[in-house]
Amino acid sequence: MSQSQSVLHLQDQTIDANKQGEALSEDLVQSKKGQDSGKKYYIETYGCQMNFNDSEIVASILAGEGFSATQSSEEADLLLINTCSIRENAEQRVRQRLKQLQPIKKQKPEAQIGVLGCMAERLKSKFLEEEKLVDLVVGPDAYRDIPSLVREAETGDKGVNVLLSREETYADINPVRLDSNGVSAFISIMRGCDNMCSFCVVPFTRGRERSRNPESIVAEAQYLVDHGYKEVTLLGQNVDSYLWFGGGPKKEYKNLTDEEKTQSVDFAGLLEKAAKVSPDLRVRFSTSHPKDITEDVMHVMNKYDNICKYIHLPVQSGNTRILNLMNRGYSREWYLDKVAKIKEIIPDCGISSDIISGFCDETEEEHQDTLSLMEKVRYDMAYMFNYSERPGTLAAKKYTDNVDKDTKKRRLQEIISLQHQHGYESNLQDIGKTFTVLVEGYSKKSNEQMRGRNSQNKMIVFPQHDFQPGDYVDVKVDECTSATLIGHAV
Ligand code: SAH
Ligand code: SF4
Ligand code: F3S
Repeated sequence: MSQSQSVLHLQDQTIDANKQGEALSEDLVQSKKGQDSGKKYYIETYGCQMNFNDSEIVASILAGEGFSATQSSEEADLLLINTCSIRENAEQRVRQRLKQLQPIKKQKPEAQIGVLGCMAERLKSKFLEEEKLVDLVVGPDAYRDIPSLVREAETGDKGVNVLLSREETYADINPVRLDSNGVSAFISIMRGCDNMCSFCVVPFTRGRERSRNPESIVAEAQYLVDHGYKEVTLLGQNVDSYLWFGGGPKKEYKNLTDEEKTQSVDFAGLLEKAAKVSPDLRVRFSTSHPKDITEDVMHVMNKYDNICKYIHLPVQSGNTRILNLMNRGYSREWYLDKVAKIKEIIPDCGISSDIISGFCDETEEEHQDTLSLMEKVRYDMAYMFNYSERPGTLAAKKYTDNVDKDTKKRRLQEIISLQHQHGYESNLQDIGKTFTVLVEGYSKKSNEQMRGRNSQNKMIVFPQHDFQPGDYVDVKVDECTSATLIGHAV
């Protein structure tokens, strides 16, 4: 797919984005083929899936302005780094990268370097004052403004826009699929987060939670199906709190007017709409929040074969006092009840987690509670982190980051080892079973092996034969490692 083909903008982008539900339906879409400006952009992305999807939105906006993409930073007129602030080391990597890019700027002074995303939002114009490494600073809700900021920077001024919006969802912009395997794509269904977990910087970098018009989400999924895609992942920081009622900042269902209630769609409703787009399209979603996931969602998952049986349900800690300090809004028991419900309603559901080790004040016994919760749940997979204090968060203001580095590291190691064991045991149980695998491409190790995932999100490799990316193949599992199932097509 060429860049210009996939750019589907409404001509008038000033219309409220949330009101553009129909924007992607074919008859309303204006394919605005950007006049080739001869300029090239290069974009690098750090952080979460939502940030990757944002880069695809930025690519679409730039293509609309006649920019073409390049994989070479030296060749680019505009170098963009889409950044993440979630932990300190994420920001350090970006700082190093910006320093590495400076020689390009020396060789080609007219080239512009821009920081996008969460670090841009967190540090704002400090980037320009302190670091003098960049020409543009653009926050996550200001990407439509990039073309005019680029023009501003061309005159020698620095281009900054870090305004957060209560409405922006980029609903009308069809992302240019970067690094795509042509099989799987992300669809952002909401932006921002209202949860204020005490350790987390996201509410400050992404602003208030708002949901995107369901019609535009369904239209994007349909567009992907029409272009050969087989899998979509619906993205949000807390998908279970998705609620469309006409647009604007999040409201609780009970506070909606009668009219808003009539047109409202919650996450279970959205998931069902996405599943109905095509039985051949797999639907995944991330991230679920233990305090908000509903039985309705679990029942919808069970009802449709094409909704993948996999829930990423981050626990963060297995101890209720720590969960309270984290402001997560649930207890250990509540979490375990949710897991039991999932296993009851969707017996073959894969479950994964995020875990933070060494949060403020965490005692040895409280750390043991995390390990014992892991023993009870037996996650198929988990992302595990040392706590990293983030400036401006509730935890940074109210608590002391008082678990020393060595203890944090040792606890994290214990968590990782246990998860390794659980992942392996979970894989062992799959030996002898047959799964439908969606082929994503060649195995990383060999061109004679294909790789893909089962519904539970486990990676399976198997001999190639004539399979192509996008094929559904039934694979029987013969052996496994802790990370991968190995089998053969049946
Ligand atoms: N919205 C998701 C999480 C998004 S951030 C949710 O609520 O589950 C992804 C993960 O990064 C979090 O689940 C958490 O485990 C981790 N994380 C966030 N802030 C962190 C911090 N300050 N230190 C260490 N890990 C952090
Ligand atoms: Fe951060 Fe909590 Fe929001 Fe997740 S739910 S993004 S951890 S504040
Ligand atoms: Fe990072 Fe921002 Fe995502 S802080 S994890 S890129 S929302």
